[in-house]
Amino acid sequence: MIGLKLATASAISLSFLSAGCGQKQVSFKSDIQPILAARCASCHAPGGQGYAASGFSVVSYQSVMKGTKYAEVIVPGSSLDSTLVRLIRHRADPSIAMPKSHDAGKPSEWLTRDQIRLITAWIDQGARNN
Ligand code: HEC
Repeated sequence: MIGLKLATASAISLSFLSAGCGQKQVSFKSDIQPILAARCASCHAPGGQGYAASGFSVVSYQSVMKGTKYAEVIVPGSSLDSTLVRLIRHRADPSIAMPKSHDAGKPSEWLTRDQIRLITAWIDQGARNN
């Protein structure tokens, strides 16, 4: 009986741990890539103005992790230190906030709160190619 209780307790704490404080495991392929494809790829793929200006491309996991031509924009495990998160949360200078607005600061062009939460959680969970 005691053995069974212990086993149940550790199974529960394990599932909490692996989910990262009760958050579900975020998948690059099914959660993150579709957001980047819909909201960033028009500019951040070879041929686009964002790619031309910064070198940042969202065409693959590898290109996202590589970052711009100057620096990485994702620090696996730390959304706080990730330039990408600062840009999509608009904590950076509004003139460099992403997605770039065609009409300065127009909120409808920003990612939704849920999309920002997903990207933040994915980075905090290690920014894996999952
Ligand atoms: C309408 C075009 C456009 C869209 C859409 C867009 N960007 Fe950009 N992005 C740019 C341009 C242009 C630059 C170059 C810097 C600048 O002009 O602000 C840039 C620069 C960047 C940089 C480099 C910033 C730096 O400090 O070096 C990152 C990272 C970035 N974008 C991420 C994103 C992400 C993530 C999305 C989608 C959520 C996105 N962008 C959507 C045009 C765009």
